[in-house]
Amino acid sequence: LRTILVGPPGAGKGTQAPRIRDEFCVCHLATGDMLREQVQAKTPLGVQAKKIMDAGGLVSDDIMVGIIQDQLDNNKACKNGFVLDGFPRTVPQAQKLDGMLNARGEKLDSVVQLLIDDQLLISRITGRLIHGPSGRTYHKEFNPPKKAGVDDVTGEKLIQRSDDNVDTLRKRLASFHAQTGPVVDYYRTKGLWHGIDAAQSPSVVWDSMRSIFVAKK
Ligand code: AP5
Ligand code: ZN
Repeated sequence: LRTILVGPPGAGKGTQAPRIRDEFCVCHLATGDMLREQVQAKTPLGVQAKKIMDAGGLVSDDIMVGIIQDQLDNNKACKNGFVLDGFPRTVPQAQKLDGMLNARGEKLDSVVQLLIDDQLLISRITGRLIHGPSGRTYHKEFNPPKKAGVDDVTGEKLIQRSDDNVDTLRKRLASFHAQTGPVVDYYRTKGLWHGIDAAQSPSVVWDSMRSIFVAKK
């Protein structure tokens, strides 16, 4: 399986992608999670990326394409396929991805867009809690951890992302519509696009996603 999840901030990409990873034995490449690891480690890229992420902008195409190329080349878990979460976000990223896959003799199966009104995303984003090291995601109201404020698996503290506030969300949404909207059209013309209603509960969203992948098999 080689698929891409596209959707605005809070649509549920990071909630659903691990289910795809586990069910179809593919790697989950989440560019936002990878950037947050660099921020945490205070690498030069992390320091630069933090400013951009907190301003709701996009990190340069060259850097992001380099990260994905490196994963496809070196991450053994990607041998069987992948689910991309947060990439490609611009048309040049999508074109570069096509080039990389062509060179590898691989093809995308599908691009799944998580459709949801911007209005519904505010509460999802402001209530989100994450476990930094694993990227596991919770929600204070919609998906609370078993014990308040700590990760179910490790018992470690959950945190709020520094870009999860209403002001930055507005900018992230604007970037999504302006830069990632054309990516959706790019894949539509290639006949790879599927849309699902992402306003439903996580399990209903998963059922619709899963049926797309199973039908393609
Ligand atoms: P990234 O980390 O990719 O952020 P994003 O695209 O804004 O998406 P989110 O992670 O906010 O949302 P999600 O769809 O994963 O939602 P989730 O499942 O967590 O990128 C961050 C930044 O990095 C970017 O702004 C950019 O600066 C940079 N970047 C990353 N990739 C880049 C690239 N390729 N090029 C350039 N720059 C790049 O769900 C949200 C909340 O809702 C959770 O609390 C969850 O529990 C809850 N929830 C999920 N589903 C449901 C449901 N069905 N019902 C109720 N609640 C739900
Ligand atoms: Zn995410």
